[in-house]
Amino acid sequence: MTAMTAPTAPAPPPPDPKILDGKKVAAAIRREAAAEAALLTAGGHQPGLSVILVGDDPASAVYVRGKETAAREAGIREQTLRFPATMTEGELLTAIDGLNRDDAVDGILVQLPLPKGISTQRILEAVDPRKDADGFHPFNTGRLVQGKPAPVPCTPAGIMEMLRREGIALAGLRAVVVGRSDIVGKPMASLLLAAHCTVTIAHSRTRDLPGVCREADLLVAAIGRAGLVTGDYVKEGAIVVDVGMNRIDRAEDVARFFPGDAAREAAFRKNGSVLMGDCDPSTVPSRASRYTPVPGGVGPLTIAMLISNTVNLAKARRPAQGAA
Ligand code: GUN
Repeated sequence: MTAMTAPTAPAPPPPDPKILDGKKVAAAIRREAAAEAALLTAGGHQPGLSVILVGDDPASAVYVRGKETAAREAGIREQTLRFPATMTEGELLTAIDGLNRDDAVDGILVQLPLPKGISTQRILEAVDPRKDADGFHPFNTGRLVQGKPAPVPCTPAGIMEMLRREGIALAGLRAVVVGRSDIVGKPMASLLLAAHCTVTIAHSRTRDLPGVCREADLLVAAIGRAGLVTGDYVKEGAIVVDVGMNRIDRAEDVARFFPGDAAREAAFRKNGSVLMGDCDPSTVPSRASRYTPVPGGVGPLTIAMLISNTVNLAKARRPAQGAA
């Protein structure tokens, strides 16, 4: 008599070996930062991070909660200062001044965007560059462009760390960064240049954008336009990093970008929208040699690098305790 076996669900397909697994790399970075934070704490100085959130932008609230949780999990003393959108620029400057003077605070992060009426530039310049957890202060931007050590904006820093840990040799590659933001595109280009890539920054006004992108051995898409980068932008065998995080809410877009993807269609029916990157997932992966998925690619790296930056700032301010 044959044994009765319970019906089993079909095994999930094996993960695509081309995938650059940002989630896994981010978990490793967070583990390592937590170990360093524990050393600093044992030496008498627990790393401290202060986050400032002004107003009630729902996306910012979600991001900040993620940062709070990650910091606490890493053993960082975290506090979030929440202020109403009616706060004045002067009041915000006073709050930052207090954090700059507070010796227990190693890292300061002002969540962007700020409400209208507050100058982002003036606020970012008010943060002590030695406590600049985001690497957004012009002093640190300048050091990055010079190839000098500095806190580096978290998303591009995380991408570099992922490429390094995945064993991707960058020297000599042609890199094209699509997008010229201060937060991602420009610092990404500086980091790739420092890693000896030949770097092009392309953007919405670039002539023949597909042709420029096809030159790339390494293509970084950071434009914020769902599915703009299609397979015909990608040289066969290129490495593609997708920084985009876009919400699509039209059924025809879901059908176009995720044909035959039952899970995405179910998510769309349930939520009325789905997240996707700047790359078209129906045409880019087959041309790339390696690529980051959305979600689970670049996203988790950003928070991991915030934790890493904070621990490094704490070490720099307390060199004796940071020595392992
Ligand atoms: N808003 C969107 N991304 C970021 C980020 O990386 N840092 C800050 N401070 N604000 C953001």
